[in-house]
Amino acid sequence: MQNAQPTQTVDAAKQEAFIGKVLSDTSAALTTTLASIGDRLGLFKDLAAHGPSTSTEVSARTGTNERYVREWLGGMAAAGYLNYDPGSGLFTLPVEHAAALAQEGGPFFFGGSYQMFRAMNVVMDQVIQSFQHGGGVPQSAYPDEFWDGLERFSAGWFENLLLQQWIPAMPDVQAKLERGATVADVGCGRGRALVKLAQAFPKSRYVGFDLFPPTIEQATRNAVTAEVEDRVRFEARDAARGLPDQFDVITTFDVVHDAVDPVGLLRRIHAGLKDEGIYICLDTNCSDRLEQNIGPLGAIFHGVSVMYCMTTSLANGGAGLGTLGFHERRVNEMCQEAGFRFVRRVPLENPFNNLYEIRP
Ligand SMILES: C[S@@+](CC[C@H](N)C(=O)[O-])C[C@H]1O[C@@H](n2cnc3c(N)ncnc32)[C@H](O)[C@@H]1O
Repeated sequence: MQNAQPTQTVDAAKQEAFIGKVLSDTSAALTTTLASIGDRLGLFKDLAAHGPSTSTEVSARTGTNERYVREWLGGMAAAGYLNYDPGSGLFTLPVEHAAALAQEGGPFFFGGSYQMFRAMNVVMDQVIQSFQHGGGVPQSAYPDEFWDGLERFSAGWFENLLLQQWIPAMPDVQAKLERGATVADVGCGRGRALVKLAQAFPKSRYVGFDLFPPTIEQATRNAVTAEVEDRVRFEARDAARGLPDQFDVITTFDVVHDAVDPVGLLRRIHAGLKDEGIYICLDTNCSDRLEQNIGPLGAIFHGVSVMYCMTTSLANGGAGLGTLGFHERRVNEMCQEAGFRFVRRVPLENPFNNLYEIRP
């Protein structure tokens, strides 16, 4: 005899509401795809610079095909990203939307995220294979575009928050940097944080370590472009195997949750600090309880985790903490395990990140 399924009554209103939600999420996914194309081709920036425009004008100015641009403008208008005036046929990027779509380096700019999401789609098949067989996707599988997008994404923090909010919220760190300190940025990526610090605190000396060599090449170029190469250098190194020196300040910006061996990395950071040294750690602002992470940000964090953070760690047999895996409780536990004695969460109004000031 077959097991009888329990009869379930369907609440029609709930069903309708949920179908509406799936519809708007599906629409959002395609809107993001079109927005990503607009970012890549400079269409938003063109509209921001030139004001109300027809498809012919946008295509002529950006060297793109009018038929495609017309379809894109229609999609962006339908999504509410652009305004459309049927009388004149003009499309406008409202000034309030420009911060998200056209202001490169600004605090609300999404272009870097769009570029990363585009690159994540390239490894989709490998992610699916990891679901089926375990393992993960190595960093080297992601196209250059991913690293370009990540640099633009985190530039938003380093251009708008690092010097304006984060360092002033840690007076002891600020005093060390002003006096002249040795600073290491572990997992430095393209090096933008150190370049900003070196410009603001020229008496200090800086070295960035990253285990992914291509980022080091670009970071070095960035330091030269910013004319800070006399006090900033970059080195390809897996910091979990040890740091070459002891420093006054060590930073990790969005690194530990990605690490193959997070406690091992923290131990090396602990060993790499002078007695009075300070470790600054930026990581995801999230709860240790899934039910408290429900919502759009939690969904983005989980998505990025599957498409990069957890998956690149698991590719190397790592802990695979994931984007939400280094929450405040675990920061305290793992730092203690690594030998640190004091962890202070710096009070900030930041829905994405927590900042910790940690001492040996
Ligand atoms: C999400 S990215 C952040 C990069 C940069 N801090 C930023 O905010 O733009 C994390 C970086 O940490 C690096 N990383 C992870 N584990 C590392 C380790 N054990 N040693 C050195 N770098 C590491 C990765 O290669 C990657 O570039």
